[in-house]
Amino acid sequence: MTGGSRGIGRAIALTLAGRGAAVAVNFARSEDAAREVCEQIEGAGGRAIAVGFDVADAAAVNAGVKRVADELGGLHVLVNNAGVSIDALLMRARDEDFQRLLDINLKGALHCSRAAARYLLRARARGRVVNLTSVVGEQGNTGQAMYAATKAGIIGLTKSMAREFSGRGITVNAVSPGFIETDMTAASVQGDARDALLKQIPLGRIGGPDEIAEAVAFLASPAAGYITGHVLRVNGGLLI
Ligand SMILES: NC(=O)c1ccc[n+]([C@@H]2O[C@H](COP(=O)([O-])OP(=O)(O)OC[C@H]3O[C@@H](n4cnc5c(N)ncnc54)[C@H](OP(=O)(O)O)[C@@H]3O)[C@@H](O)[C@H]2O)c1
Repeated sequence: MTGGSRGIGRAIALTLAGRGAAVAVNFARSEDAAREVCEQIEGAGGRAIAVGFDVADAAAVNAGVKRVADELGGLHVLVNNAGVSIDALLMRARDEDFQRLLDINLKGALHCSRAAARYLLRARARGRVVNLTSVVGEQGNTGQAMYAATKAGIIGLTKSMAREFSGRGITVNAVSPGFIETDMTAASVQGDARDALLKQIPLGRIGGPDEIAEAVAFLASPAAGYITGHVLRVNGGLLI
């Protein structure tokens, strides 16, 4: 799984390991945090390896995914979670920021899916891809046009992959979180902004990483074998 060192990805890694999966915890910069996740999994009797690569770097992804499959003896589930957010009003949007968002959030998922495809095909009906999109990709947000475009792109990628892989029984779905308490949202869910945000969320609270991890684990499980091309919203009712 990509971006397993912190936030939602960390929760997904721990949850999947808790359900018996051997987990590859990818990181880009937070090696110590990724190793801590692996230690926690191993301490609970599970199996995990930390694998560093930047999802924006296609060659590094190919090598990293091969290493994962070699060391874990295959690859049945790919979770494309790694992502960054850079916010700016459209008139102030910088080309280099948009390129970075595209490279990591959208091309990163494509790179990893392409690299994992041959192993997923071998897994046949056990093969699963779960991509992380966002409520912002579905409904837009002021100051997040660039980020929203990458997350809307993830939905198109998910639906196309679902069609392409369906012949082999592999399912491809997306989870669309609302606002979840992580480093990514730390600035936007403080103080007055938090109060304004809470008023827009029918369930009246920010979500937790574990609540996203549960949705991912379900879509990755055999129980979800007849669900493909779906976008599962986990947003407290923010978008209904
Ligand atoms: N938090 C929310 O409210 C929310 C809402 C909707 C959707 N999402 C989506 O959920 C996903 C996780 O978000 P989060 O809130 O958990 O973010 P986060 O706390 O900032 O963590 C981001 C993770 O992605 C990894 N990452 C970043 N750039 C990478 C790269 N180039 N290559 C490999 N890994 C990279 C980071 O690893 P390093 O530390 O090693 O760089 C880290 O593990 C993202 O796709 C995000 O867009 C989040």
